Amino acid sequence: MTSERFFGLIPAAGAGERMGQAQPKQYLDLRGRPMLYHSVKALLADARIDTVFVVLAPADHEFKQHPWEEFGERLAPLYCGGATRHDSVLNGLVAASSTVEPDDWMLVHDAARPCLAQQELGRLLDALAADEVGGILGVPVADTLKRADASGRIQATVPRERLWQAQTPQMFRHGLLLQALGRTAKLSDEAGAVEAMGLQPKLVQGAATNLKVTYAEDLQLAQTILTSRETQP
Ligand code: CTP
Ligand code: MG
Repeated sequence: MTSERFFGLIPAAGAGERMGQAQPKQYLDLRGRPMLYHSVKALLADARIDTVFVVLAPADHEFKQHPWEEFGERLAPLYCGGATRHDSVLNGLVAASSTVEPDDWMLVHDAARPCLAQQELGRLLDALAADEVGGILGVPVADTLKRADASGRIQATVPRERLWQAQTPQMFRHGLLLQALGRTAKLSDEAGAVEAMGLQPKLVQGAATNLKVTYAEDLQLAQTILTSRETQP
């Protein structure tokens, strides 16, 4: 079961409520471009990625207001976002079915992770291209973890051995992912749906710089990361 083709799928139909801004966060400005631009560019930076599908809200009017010509036909917007991230990804997988074969790889990547570096993406593709299940980028937990009680006092110290923080891209074959997401209740990531089928996705070492922009202060950090890359010799 080997496939040569890799596709990206970026759910970008969220409202970005936790950012506390009127505009959805995928369109917030990051170095003169919408955040979504950087996430698309990061995936397409690897020549192995055939096309990136972007899942937009059906009522999205903002996507078209930005220039995307530089990506040509490697970028394909789909206006089929749903009420939850799970729905948006599932709808996107269904819409992409006319182009993508069940054995092709799908790399699901959050619009809200604009700082994915080529090195980590390349490592994910290299590590999983011949894998039976697929897997995700993640980072081993570095901090000591505490479980709180209801009053905010420490109830227990949780051993961090073998604990990872899950990131995106999450890379699975299209057919498997469609099946996994179609049969599970709402889960926060694709790997969880694949795990629910009794499979064990692989964890591939990512980088802390591939942060998810959730709160206003994360945007500044993302800007600093992207700027430092631009200015590196
Ligand atoms: N997403 C989506 N469709 C939804 C909800 C989320 O496509 N109905 C996307 C977001 O656009 C984002 C990614 O899923 O790229 C990760 O979700 P999250 O960071 O939670 O973004 P939002 O849901 O937009 O933010 P919030 O939860 O703060 O409202
Ligand atoms: Mg959300």
